Amino acid sequence: MAADATPPSPAEQRPNGLAPAAPDPDQLILVTGGAGYIGCVLVPRLLARGYRVRVLDRLYFGEEPLAGFRDSVELVVGDVRELPARLLDGVDGVIHLAGLSNDPTAEFNPEANWQMNALATEHLARACLERELERFVFASSCSLYDGLEPGIHDESAAIEPRAAYAVSKRYAEERLLELTEQGLVAVLLRNGTVYGHSPRMRFDLVVNTFVKDALVSGRLSLHGGGWMWRPLVDVRDCADAMIAAYEAPRELVRGEIFNVLHSNYQIRELAMLVAGSVQLAGRPIELVEVEAPTLLRDYECANAKLSRTLGFIPRRSVLEAVSELLSRIDVGNRAYMTDPRHYNIRWLELLTELKPALDKFASVL
Ligand SMILES: NC(=O)c1ccc[n+]([C@@H]2O[C@H](COP(=O)([O-])OP(=O)(O)OC[C@H]3O[C@@H](n4cnc5c(N)ncnc54)[C@H](O)[C@@H]3O)[C@@H](O)[C@H]2O)c1
Repeated sequence: MAADATPPSPAEQRPNGLAPAAPDPDQLILVTGGAGYIGCVLVPRLLARGYRVRVLDRLYFGEEPLAGFRDSVELVVGDVRELPARLLDGVDGVIHLAGLSNDPTAEFNPEANWQMNALATEHLARACLERELERFVFASSCSLYDGLEPGIHDESAAIEPRAAYAVSKRYAEERLLELTEQGLVAVLLRNGTVYGHSPRMRFDLVVNTFVKDALVSGRLSLHGGGWMWRPLVDVRDCADAMIAAYEAPRELVRGEIFNVLHSNYQIRELAMLVAGSVQLAGRPIELVEVEAPTLLRDYECANAKLSRTLGFIPRRSVLEAVSELLSRIDVGNRAYMTDPRHYNIRWLELLTELKPALDKFASVL
């Protein structure tokens, strides 16, 4: 199956260091959270390399984003907190994405966040170890660096996570590192904030949000002037980095943490990049400075270890991703861009609000 139906862009033609072919494609990979924003880009890329894929997902955002590869994967609809009995049968390795994937959803239900992001990750990794499954690639986050002194931090920084999301990711990292001592080949990828197009679109990630705001309201808000720094990476590079980590020789990656980012950007710069791109398409954009909210995330990360160790260098810039986004989404379709399904916190709030009433009936209609 082709990873992507569109012709290769100039960025696509630059190598990012991922080997052209999988070293051992005759493998079954379990991708938890494979129906999510990153998963829906990752899974077709795994299939294109010849892997077989089993997806475990409780489908918070529906099954429709899987349409392009639904017939090529085994879909297990389930919750990562209650692993289905035969989930790991025949599996050679795991790429673990499932869980609450940002600060607002983690704060919305800290207990669920802890169960999913912290405890379920530990439990899944232990289950892999019992089965003598080695490779376990974990989607951690650069937000673990938030709160440190200004400056660029590498993987050795003494992080002090405080927010529910970062604390849960750190707990999972620590348990995975412990299990590495017992034979698990855990690879911890601290992803920057991801941007770009996915069949399961998220418009609650800064670059994608700016594109949506530019198209829907013609107005980009710079909270506190937008001077905060953020490490960022394109969703396809993020997926390729996971594949590179999965395929790397075990001695290079066992128990290693890698930051995954293209570059660090200031939010203000991102707004200007998006505004410029949308203006080129003939739409006027207004940039407005607004008051800073109480919680401002501000951190920068180094990306040298990933390129030094694995030879992997994310290749797609924000400009390229924005230009591609503008060409792939229906820019006049406000309903699509403002659909609550594309904003994790809004969607989970809605589901939570509706659940008690829906549970009283056998069907929705
Ligand atoms: N997108 C980013 O900017 C970013 C940055 C750093 C790290 N990450 C991490 O990458 C992973 C994937 O992020 P994403 O952007 O694709 O998020 P997403 O919210 O789009 O996808 C998460 C997927 O996991 C599923 N899921 C959630 N809880 C589950 C559970 N308990 N059991 C089974 N399935 C469950 C959801 O249904 C969804 O399909 C997350 O772990 C996230 O923390 C994402």
